[in-house]
Amino acid sequence: MNSERGFRIGLLGRGTVGAAFEALLPQHAARIESITGLRPSLSGVLTRSGGGSFEQVLERADLIVELIGGIEPARDYVLRAMRAGRHVVTANKQLLSRHGEELWGVARTEGVQLRFEGAVAGVVPVIRVLQESLAGARIDRVHGIVNGTTNFILTEMARTGASLAEALAEAQRLGYAEADPSEDLDGRDAAAKMAILARLAFDTPVHIDQVSYEGIEQIQPDDLEYARELGLGLKLIGTAERIDERLSVRVHPAFLYPGHPLASINGPFNAVTVQSPTITEITMSGPGAGGPQTATAVLGDVISAMIPPASTPAAEHALEIAQDVVSAFYLHLEVADEPGVLAQLAQVLALQDVSVKSVLQKGLGDQARLVMVVHPLLESRFQAAMELIAGLDVMRAPPRAIRVLEEEFG
Ligand SMILES: NC(=O)c1ccc[n+]([C@@H]2O[C@H](COP(=O)([O-])OP(=O)(O)OC[C@H]3O[C@@H](n4cnc5c(N)ncnc54)[C@H](OP(=O)(O)O)[C@@H]3O)[C@@H](O)[C@H]2O)c1
Repeated sequence: MNSERGFRIGLLGRGTVGAAFEALLPQHAARIESITGLRPSLSGVLTRSGGGSFEQVLERADLIVELIGGIEPARDYVLRAMRAGRHVVTANKQLLSRHGEELWGVARTEGVQLRFEGAVAGVVPVIRVLQESLAGARIDRVHGIVNGTTNFILTEMARTGASLAEALAEAQRLGYAEADPSEDLDGRDAAAKMAILARLAFDTPVHIDQVSYEGIEQIQPDDLEYARELGLGLKLIGTAERIDERLSVRVHPAFLYPGHPLASINGPFNAVTVQSPTITEITMSGPGAGGPQTATAVLGDVISAMIPPASTPAAEHALEIAQDVVSAFYLHLEVADEPGVLAQLAQVLALQDVSVKSVLQKGLGDQARLVMVVHPLLESRFQAAMELIAGLDVMRAPPRAIRVLEEEFG
């Protein structure tokens, strides 16, 4: 690879994720060049219907992105790419859950990177967290909602009382389920992802055939109704856990109490909770699938493969630094309890356009305490008002202020 010709990416598969990746790459090419010194571009694309040859795509590429899916020819292409010295990025959970050891082994012996953030939980960066951030933690359990289709269906059944078939039809209408959803419904898709997570969390080879799985096909609407009365929510949960120095990896529906970190994950979202004695627990959640979302994870992997580890991009001054921002404030004033005090304060506040939202007054002997919340304003104006107030003779203690966050959550 050299900077004259940039960084060439060969794309295998241009379906839901591949097409989204193709669209995303040029949008970020300039920024990636600023990070890595090389401008990435697609140098070849291979699809089933569009012809082209794998050899040609490989020949012209510095890195291969595999988004065909399934086992063959994806496995063959990934192996050949790595043996030819190319880094590979893939989102193929079926391939990794069956042939991961062979592929990671070849990546090690060839000294190339095999990255696969998009293979589990879409754009939620759970692979990176397990491989890098938590590499120094002894992990005891990984719990996950790793299939967005079934999570959407269970959420919909609980919300509307719909049957599984009705909720599935809605999922298909919204693009959350494929025409053939059997691998989602029977738990196989989640099992493949849990095999990969277990492999990373416990450094133990896990083949999908070693994962016991149960899907959601048997769930009836009244299961969800009764559970709601008991305060329970139903999720398809993947678990990989250390039990007496053995590893259990399984997928099954499970009820959760509201306080569980996975209980609030609704709709097509995914989430993964990692538990470890040193870190207690970390939960990551976000969109678990979708073309642009998964393509974002794939592009992140491409950039990681292009840069030396822990490189920090040169700053671009893309954004101006804001010195003065708008905020609401709580204001606490200890003042003399005498006539005219409020009028003086009101004058000072009005001078700086400080508008009072609410006020409480309490007498304390010859002193009074005024507590007020003021409407959002530029902090510099509020600070100016504070300085004026501090200088007033009627003040018995320096004024105290604390910012108030007014955004509403929900
Ligand atoms: N879709 C998602 O939301 C999502 C999320 C996470 C991970 N993934 C993973 O990402 C990968 C791609 O998924 P996708 O949904 O984008 O699949 P897709 O829409 O079915 O696209 C597959 C692409 O691969 C091409 N292809 C199939 N067989 C081929 C062959 N033998 N030789 C060359 N090209 C071939 C197809 O060519 P044609 O265009 O000619 O048919 C198509 O362009 C899979 O591993 C999947 O598990 C997908």
